[in-house]
Amino acid sequence: MEGAVRPEVDEEACILCGQCVRACSFEVMKLRKRSAQPRGIGECIVCGQCVAVCPQNAISHPAIPDERISGLPATAAVGYDELAALFSQRRSVRRYRDEEVSDELILELIAAAVMAPSGHNQQSWQFIAIKDPDELAAVRDAAAAFYGGLLAALEDPQIRQGMIAEMGEEGVAGLDEIAPAVKLILRAHERGEDRMIWGAPVLLLAHAPASDPTGAESAHYAVGNLMLAAVSKGLGTCAIGFLTVPAGFSPELREALHVPEGQTLHAALALGWPDVTYYRSTGRREAQVRII
Ligand SMILES: Cc1cc2nc3c(=O)[nH]c(=O)nc-3n(C[C@H](O)[C@H](O)[C@H](O)COP(=O)(O)O)c2cc1C
Ligand code: SF4
Ligand code: SF4
Repeated sequence: MEGAVRPEVDEEACILCGQCVRACSFEVMKLRKRSAQPRGIGECIVCGQCVAVCPQNAISHPAIPDERISGLPATAAVGYDELAALFSQRRSVRRYRDEEVSDELILELIAAAVMAPSGHNQQSWQFIAIKDPDELAAVRDAAAAFYGGLLAALEDPQIRQGMIAEMGEEGVAGLDEIAPAVKLILRAHERGEDRMIWGAPVLLLAHAPASDPTGAESAHYAVGNLMLAAVSKGLGTCAIGFLTVPAGFSPELREALHVPEGQTLHAALALGWPDVTYYRSTGRREAQVRII
């Protein structure tokens, strides 16, 4: 990502163990007579693997400031049982207390998010936290306008035919399926009830450049981290596909969400302090798995 910048090796500290060479899958690190050196043919993607793996702490990287690196425990920091409990504790929270989430806390969650893997270490994810109540209202209004138009289009025989020609019967049938739920949300919106963001004090968005072929995947891994970090802080989240899907079609909604030109919105999350207590997990259908 950061071009030709390469790591630096402290020759005195290097014990020629070769770990950094094995860790660098981009063929940047090579063993020389006195020490490992970044003299290979590959291009460094600033993944930091060589820095992380060196038992002598002999490698630094100009593109990775020291303060962004921390020591790690020798074994997994969290046992499986604890982690499984955290996974089960995460719920889609749809009731929030009227209580602020501080900027510091949001930044802490984003720090957890960006520990996720990303395609070619692009880290192309970008985040927006919308807290301003007027801005949140504008998002709800823009989404309501989009869905109002969609429902009207589905009910107009001529427009419907045009939609079938464009999306196929199945595509329009899919819209018919969600129409009753959309009507409920829009009726609630007219009554001044929030069934879109569920009254959460924060709407957190993750977007990435449309040009990044792995931008969506990477952003989703990051948001997964963030959702679990939120649980560990006592916060609740809810993924709002109701907003991400139309953001690809409605310029008004994109504007209300502040998604910049050339970027694709990959996730929208309600975030806040839960006003609900869960006493047990919800259970899941048995996963369909094939081990081949
Ligand atoms: C991609 C995606 C989109 C979702 N969109 C919405 C949404 O628009 N509104 C909502 O209330 N919940 C939404 N959800 C939450 C799901 O309904 C929820 O994850 C599912 O029912 C399982 O419940 P749990 O998250 O509590 O385990 C979405 C979840 C995902 C993963
Ligand atoms: S930062 Fe990653 S790509 Fe660059 S030299 Fe180290 S291991 Fe190789
Ligand atoms: S991992 Fe560290 S000690 Fe081992 S070869 Fe590389 S620079 Fe030298």
